[in-house]
Amino acid sequence: MFSNRVKNAPRSFTRKILDLIQDNSVISFAGGLPDESLFPHEVVKAEINNVLNNSKKSIYQYSSALGALPLREEIAKTYKDASASQILITTGSQQGLDLLCKAFINAGDVIVVEKPSYLAALNLFALYDANIIEVSLTCKGVDVVELEEIFKTKKPKFFYTIPTFQNPTGWSWDEETRVKVAKLAKDYNIIIVEDSPYNALRYEGKIPTPFDELLPQLCISLGTFSKTLVPDFRIGWMRAKSEFLNVFQAMKENTDLQSSKFLQYVVANLMNSNQLNLHVENLIGVYKEKRDTMASALKEELGDIISFEIPQGGMFIWVKFDDGIDTMQLFDFAIKNQVAYVPGSVFYKNSAVPCPYIRLNYTNATCEDIKEGIKRLKLAYMQYNANHE
Ligand SMILES: Cc1ncc(COP(=O)(O)O)c(C=O)c1O
Repeated sequence: MFSNRVKNAPRSFTRKILDLIQDNSVISFAGGLPDESLFPHEVVKAEINNVLNNSKKSIYQYSSALGALPLREEIAKTYKDASASQILITTGSQQGLDLLCKAFINAGDVIVVEKPSYLAALNLFALYDANIIEVSLTCKGVDVVELEEIFKTKKPKFFYTIPTFQNPTGWSWDEETRVKVAKLAKDYNIIIVEDSPYNALRYEGKIPTPFDELLPQLCISLGTFSKTLVPDFRIGWMRAKSEFLNVFQAMKENTDLQSSKFLQYVVANLMNSNQLNLHVENLIGVYKEKRDTMASALKEELGDIISFEIPQGGMFIWVKFDDGIDTMQLFDFAIKNQVAYVPGSVFYKNSAVPCPYIRLNYTNATCEDIKEGIKRLKLAYMQYNANHE
């Protein structure tokens, strides 16, 4: 009855976790959720009223799939060298990924991803029957030698990367790796898809050069307001040269005609009046404190058995258990102790291979819960070890 696509659809482990953590007594570091208490409800409410009071009925009409011009203009301003004509509004950046697949992937086509990478992107690429090739990633960036070999021998359709505050690792590529990869992409004429949901959540450190500046002709950028404003508005965007953007526009027309524009006007005003920037500054202050709280708690409770990098921004810490335990098995003990994380294995193409990493989200829990949750994680680890002696 159903298509092969449905039969082959990977089951999202995070959905299983979300089911498990319905129980409020579980402290969850699992979902990639922003802190809901910081959603700028009053500011949004005022701006919604403003748009309602000052717009004509035509705001409700069908219109171009590209999205509301004022928002596209505001987004274009956030790039060093872009115009509104290069911006397409999408229903979250997840739709950007879908349009990308529709535009480029025939069954069996090779695409390259970081190892590990964003779970929902991996699942989506698999749905489109892409031949996914992983390239090793460290906290400084991808292995450039390995990447060149893949570019040379496999001629991928594109390389999908989250070079800044990556999901799941929180790692950011250094400038040197970015420059080398941009050169490789140019030499082998490979498209770089730069997914940047977390860039604006930078707590410290120098901003590296994005691929849209290093490689304007071959870079497709994806962005979103899900992490900087609210996920529920489902507003994201794609930035690309017009040759690509025209195709994405056609793919979007065939998918949903257009995204709802009303909230796009609201967001455009929030950007134009600098209120969004002020809100992001506030987020950065709170998230930095939460990151520090989690990093200190991890060092204090588990310091001698784990390793991790402290990210300069974003929403995640990627923790390795140095004794190489299978964190999928540890997960059951964690849930018994009412703490949740995402086992690292789900972020790899072959999620059946045991993995010593876990992804911890620190933005959603309170500082108190972060301290308590890491204590529970230590208990879970001790119980797991006692069971495996
Ligand atoms: C790397 C990455 N890309 C894309 C998305 C999708 O974001 P949205 O569709 O809410 O814009 C996420 C969400 O967590 C993400 O982490």
